Amino acid sequence: MSWLLRGASPYGEERTDLLIRDGVIAEMGAGLSARGAELVAADGLVALPGLVDLHTHLREPGREDAETVQTGARSAALGGFSAVHAMANTDPVADTAGVVEQVWRLGRETALVDVSPVGAVTVGLGGTQLAELGAMADSAARVRMFSDDGHCVCDPALMRRALEYVKAFGGVIAQHAEEHRLTEGAQMNEGIQSAQLGLTGWPAAAEEAIIARDVLLTGHVGSRLHVCHVSTTGSVELLRWAKDKGIDVTAEVTPHHLLLTDDLAATYDPVYKVNPPLRTAGDVAALRAGLADGTIDAVATDHAPHSVEDKECEWGAARPGMLGLQQALSVVILTMVESGRLDWRGVADRMSGRPARIGGLVRDGHGGDLVVGAPANIVLVDPAARIVVDPAELASRSRNTPYAGMQLPGRVVANFLRGAATVLDGKAQR
Ligand code: DOR
Ligand code: ZN
Repeated sequence: MSWLLRGASPYGEERTDLLIRDGVIAEMGAGLSARGAELVAADGLVALPGLVDLHTHLREPGREDAETVQTGARSAALGGFSAVHAMANTDPVADTAGVVEQVWRLGRETALVDVSPVGAVTVGLGGTQLAELGAMADSAARVRMFSDDGHCVCDPALMRRALEYVKAFGGVIAQHAEEHRLTEGAQMNEGIQSAQLGLTGWPAAAEEAIIARDVLLTGHVGSRLHVCHVSTTGSVELLRWAKDKGIDVTAEVTPHHLLLTDDLAATYDPVYKVNPPLRTAGDVAALRAGLADGTIDAVATDHAPHSVEDKECEWGAARPGMLGLQQALSVVILTMVESGRLDWRGVADRMSGRPARIGGLVRDGHGGDLVVGAPANIVLVDPAARIVVDPAELASRSRNTPYAGMQLPGRVVANFLRGAATVLDGKAQR
């Protein structure tokens, strides 16, 4: 099947036609002939390379009531993604070649996005014994990113060994930076709001202490570190320092940390409970600036579906986490593009190019530029559209979106994975 995208604006720049044939961008230019191709009217639409998410919780195996690979993949396609990294905190944990291969195969069956499993760093996320990193790297899933996300690899000697181990195959350790001894019982950001609400606080220093330690370890052993969901001003400063020193560290920020603040905890609505917690307006400003200047490399969703039982209960008992895949691009448009902090090339860099390089997915054709000969992983976005988020309409099996009722800019009109349409006219094709 071939497609002619008529009048699209790659990166919001000059309008052109794009001809997709045999899974690649066969031609680009004005007035291309559509003979034999399906026509897609793309006037006014921005074309971007397919987005890549470094941090998705798909919940399969184990919590298929909250999300499956299929429903998560559909959310991702509708959000403009062509690839996602599936976090390891499933049940069973993705700490063996068998489990990562299972998730990878389920991803292939969706034919909506490429699912690249993240392997656990430690057995069962237990934090004491290294998992079989090499076997996961050698498996059909070809795992390159390892993370105990949800938990921090707190033992510094184990972290050092993990960093050393992945050097053999160009892997990366993605750290959920949280000094657990400093966050025991924590319910929200530690600050004025937590004091007023009487909720136990999660101090910024608990994140920053681990980042400081890990960039030093990474520099020492000459390995590669990725920092998950950076949330504080101090974390951005530490990353800037580490990058200046030439340490091989990258970092991500979530859409929710770019937009929402800790005063939402005053609603006691657990939809706003997340780990790391929502921070202050000052932190939000620092995160936006860090993403704009490249200190923070990528936007990653931390899409964390939770069942109604786990989320619609009292604040203290609720699981942390919120949905992100379907609204991530809209939140980035709102916070970064409409404010002039990033242009569309910047969005492509932070949501496709850099995440693909960090996760090792360039080998599979992700994260490249929109040029003739490139794999046709293309998303068409209407930047002028504004959509009111209705949780009931989301593709996820869960409903815990913090954006319910908000009017957000940008609509994913179409999405192509290696030339196959995964979304057309805003609707998932599978
Ligand atoms: O809010 C969060 N939810 N943070 C994490 O680190 C884990 C995630 C989850 O798995 O629900
Ligand atoms: Zn995490």
